[in-house]
This record gives sequence, C-alpha cells and structure tokens, in this order.
Amino acid sequence: MSVIDLYKSAGQEQLFQHLDQLNETDKSQFLSNLEAASRRISPQKLVDDCKKAISQSAENARDSSSVEPLPATSYQSVIDNASAQEEYYKIGLESVTNGEVAVVLMAGGQGTRLGSSAPKGCYDIGLPSHKSLFQIQAEKLISLQRLSGTKSPIPWYVMTSKPTHNTTKDFFEKHNYFGLESSQVVFFNQGTLPALDLQGEKLLLSSPTDLVESPDGNGGLYRAIKDNQLLQDFEKKGIKHVYMYCVDNVLSKLADPVFIGFAIKHGFELATKVVRKRDANESVGLIATKDNKPCVIEYSEISPELAAEKDSSGLLKLRAANIVNHYYSVELLKRDLDQWCEHMPYHIAKKKIPCYDNTTGESLKPTEPNGIKLEQFIFDVFPGVSLDKFGCLEVDRAQEFSPLKNAPGTANDNPETSRAAYLELGGNRLKKIGAQIADGVSVEVSSKLSYAGENLSQYKGKVFDKDNTVLEN
Ligand code: UTP
Repeated sequence: MSVIDLYKSAGQEQLFQHLDQLNETDKSQFLSNLEAASRRISPQKLVDDCKKAISQSAENARDSSSVEPLPATSYQSVIDNASAQEEYYKIGLESVTNGEVAVVLMAGGQGTRLGSSAPKGCYDIGLPSHKSLFQIQAEKLISLQRLSGTKSPIPWYVMTSKPTHNTTKDFFEKHNYFGLESSQVVFFNQGTLPALDLQGEKLLLSSPTDLVESPDGNGGLYRAIKDNQLLQDFEKKGIKHVYMYCVDNVLSKLADPVFIGFAIKHGFELATKVVRKRDANESVGLIATKDNKPCVIEYSEISPELAAEKDSSGLLKLRAANIVNHYYSVELLKRDLDQWCEHMPYHIAKKKIPCYDNTTGESLKPTEPNGIKLEQFIFDVFPGVSLDKFGCLEVDRAQEFSPLKNAPGTANDNPETSRAAYLELGGNRLKKIGAQIADGVSVEVSSKLSYAGENLSQYKGKVFDKDNTVLEN
C-alpha cells in the first residue's frame, strides 16, 4: 500500500488537501516524513489507541477499585533509621565498586512550564557557582566514583528527545562532560508520536511537510531502551542494576548506594523512592496498590476522604509520594522489556497545539486546547511486577527531592526553591560537622566535594561569613 493510501485508509484524507500545491522536493519530503511516522505506529493503530486512551481516561475517573498502601514487605522508610541506611549503603556501594550499576536519566521533556528554550538540564538555578543541573549531577557521579573506588566509570545514559537532543549533546561537549569521561556518557533518543485533534480522529500538520509530533512521554523510556539496544550495552559492561531519575530534581542522588542496596538486599526487581506526602491536599501521585498490584494513583483518582485518612501511627495512610526515581534489575528488563513496549497504553493530554491549516495555508496559534498529545507513563508497568518483587523506599524530602517544574516567581517547584533546597542541604551538612554559617550567608557545597555529606571534616569549626562562598574539591 502506498503511504498516501495507508493514511487515507485510516481516515486521514485531510492531510493531502494541499498535496497538488507542493513542489516535487516538498512532496517527497512530506511523504517520507509520513512514512517515518508510520514505522513507529501505523496511522490506524494510532487512531484506535487514541480512542482507547480517551475512553480509558473517562473510566479512570470512575474507577473505584480498592486502593491500599503497599504492605510492609514492600515498604520501608529510612528516615531516622541509620542502621538500615548503613546496611543498604554498604551493599549498594559494593555493587557500584564492582561496576554493576548504571544511571539512566530522563531528559527528553520540553519543560514547558519552566519556560526556558534550552533543555532543563542546562538550567542555571542561580547557585553561587551558576552550575547547571547537568553539571551538579555529573559531579555527583564523580564523587561517588571516588567514594566507591571503582575502576569502571559509572555509565550515564542520557535520554533526550527530538527537541532536546542536539542542544544537550552540545552542552556536554562544550563543558568537557563536566570532568567525566566522554565515553561513560551515552545519549539516546526517545521516540515521538503524532498529535491529533480533540476528537482523537485527525492527525495535525505543523507545516506543509510535517506532522505535529511530540516526545512520547516518560514511558517512552522503555521503547527507547529497546530501540537503542541498551540492554546489549548493559550486558557487555556487566551492568546488573539500573538507577533511573528525572533531570529536574537538583537533589537526586545518582546511583544512590542506599537505594540500590535496598533493592539488592530484598531481591526487588523494581523499586521506587518516595517522599512523605506533605498533607492530604498535595497534588502528587502516590505509590500504592490497586487490587493488590503495585501502581501509581494520581491525586485526582482518589476521594478527598481517602486522601485524608490516617493510619494508626497518625500519618496519612496513603503518603508515599512518587518522585519518579526508580530502580530496575537488568534481569527484569531482559525478561519484560519487549512486552512492556508492545502493551503499554497511551494517555491523552489536551494541549494548545500550534499547527498548519493546509486548506488556507495559515499557521494557527490556538489560545484554547485544540488537540491531543499522546504520552506513555513510566509507571504503567508497575502492576505487572509481582508485589513481592516490588520495593518502595521512603527517604527524607529535604535531602532528596526538590523538583524544578515552574518558572521563576511562581508559587512552588521553581528555580528559587531548587536553589534554596540545594544550599540548605549543604549548609546543614556543614553545620552537622561543626562549621558555623552566619545568618543570611549562602555557602554552596559542590557535589564534587561531597556526595552525601562526607568529606567535609576539614571545615569543622570554620566560620562562614562571606556570602556566596563555593566549596569545591
Ligand atoms: P515532566 O512530566 O515534569 O515534564 O517531566 P517536563 O518536560 O519536564 O515539563 P513540562 O510538563 O513540559 O512543564 C518529568 C521528567 O520526565 C522527563 C523530563 O525531562 C523530566 O526529567 N520526560 C518527560 C522525558 O524524558 N520525556 C518526556 O517525553 C516527558
């Protein structure tokens, strides 16, 4: 079947109304773009899956399956539990030392709420050093390599998308990989999916020769791992454990030995870090079980009564807030990745999508949502993992989670809160070893100097009274 027939048979005649007006070069470009998009998913399947996603989203809102917290066998808090932390740390660090741990970063998002044109990882949150998020993260790997004494640099797989790929790569190159070996950083691209109109029926054009396409969501990670043959790379390098995290959390502890050790010790195939939900109203996804299967429940899916329910300890019964920080055993990926890629559902996001009207030749900039972007969610694979192989580790929010979502000057999760969280954590660690920091003074502890509070004893008794001091290794 020709590419035109393929799309027409899926009800997409509208794409070709301007075909006669295109010159030969543009026409062949257009058809080759359509052909490329259909290789990922056929137009008919795309329309069918979009319809399914629309009705699923209505069903989710009505779903009343029983939502419960994870059982104690799957859930542990290391807040105020120094002995568990120590035990897991030793196990995890040994695995890092042995070169068994890889880090996978999701950096394919477009960061629309933040409003910066560059990828989020390049963002300067206003620390005294003006380091970017990427640099802070790279330096954590450098200190962990030093701490573990590993002879094999920790591989860092950076997932980008069409909108972030080139700028991200150029940024790393321009900054000499922030002191890492360039060979330990692997960039790989996630896929894109075409967007549809609000009815989920018609594909949209972004120009005379291109469909509107956007990254396929954080769940696109699995297909990207498969398409880029990362499992083969893991195998070659002897990787057994994967630490996955989001680019926008300045406090993320890359390859965290405590978390890896927790998963190894209990034989979990998939594990996730959570922080304690602040209060019943916080808009966060929760790690829980539904019909005895691990899952993420969106805040909109539970009633206000259930959200506010307390357990016998006086804490919220459902309090495990998802920070999208996951552990995967390579064994699990080898076993299940292919079927995840086949069967993961799509979700709809109604958006204002700039597009091209091929009947008038006009470029449209809508002020109201006019279309649907399809996305996959990383957590949709959780229910397929058996509960005894699924672990959840509660960690301290102040030490591990401060996401950068919103533009400067907004109410929360913005550059100011990221900066404050990073400086406060470093400052508290200095105070803990006996340094003094004068009121109103910012001291930045470089991630290259200290991974998690170690290596600071040289500052015992030191008084910091000069603002914007940066402590480097
Ligand atoms: P968010 O869902 O917060 O999206 O991503 P975002 O792109 O950063 O910001 P908005 O929603 O456009 O304002 C959480 C994490 O998932 C990654 C992001 O890069 C971030 O690390 N992500 C998201 C991807 O890697 N690919 C995607 O398609 C979506």
